Amino acid sequence: MSFVTGADVRLWKTSLLNGDHVRDEAAGVADVLGRVHAAGAATDFDRSAFDNSADFHAIRVEPYLLFTAQRHPSVAPRLMQLAAGLDTSWTTLVHGDVSPKNILFRGDQPILLDAECASMGDPCFDVAFCLNHLILKSVHLAKSRARLLGSVLEFWQVYAPHVRWEDPAALEARTAALVPALMLARIDGKSPVEYLSEPERAWVRAKALSLLEHPEASLRDLVSKLSANGIKS
Ligand SMILES: Nc1ncnc2c1ncn2[C@@H]1O[C@H](COP(=O)(O)OP(=O)(O)O)[C@@H](O)[C@H]1O
Ligand SMILES: [Mg+2]
Repeated sequence: MSFVTGADVRLWKTSLLNGDHVRDEAAGVADVLGRVHAAGAATDFDRSAFDNSADFHAIRVEPYLLFTAQRHPSVAPRLMQLAAGLDTSWTTLVHGDVSPKNILFRGDQPILLDAECASMGDPCFDVAFCLNHLILKSVHLAKSRARLLGSVLEFWQVYAPHVRWEDPAALEARTAALVPALMLARIDGKSPVEYLSEPERAWVRAKALSLLEHPEASLRDLVSKLSANGIKS
């Protein structure tokens, strides 16, 4: 790809941590991701270039889910079940690192970078991975909390109409089940998030464990569980 540069280019992570307006940006990312997933699920999509399940297992499933399972025996069976689902899916092209630090905006147009773990897989991974970033930032940024949690729902509203390869409600339920696993992984997995304080980490850990034991099937219900206050920063 070409190097994207100019006065109108910014990294999404920088805008999020600055507390800049985010809602439209989440919608833009959702639309791009929905189009990628729809294209990758098409019957004529050439899957041969993305037969990367072993790499995806090594740099996503193992460090995020299986490593975290070793540290949390009470939810280990659940994390291993989620891992097995990701390992065996071949539904569509998954980017694998839909993180705000890998998304540039030129004006209101998102540009996805860094597809080094792109693989055929379960699209719920990309959705949950991106939403988890918004959720973790909502824990950290009290002033932006409501807006960031709102952007989780807006993301799904824009993404869901692209889902023609399966029942969107089934994909939403898998996403809502995976989000708490990724929340826990960013606290106690191999790649912990760097900006949360210890009380914030404790809050995320407790919420994630509770949601892994009692999963929500909809993102709306998930967000309402996460909207409860009591976060000590
Ligand atoms: N094509 C590009 N145009 C402009 N900036 C880029 C481009 N590719 C990467 N960058 C910048 O470099 C950073 C790191 O690149 P990335 O591909 O994400 O590598 P890494 O594997 O180190 O995360 C990005 O966050 C972005 O700021
Ligand atoms: Mg990167």
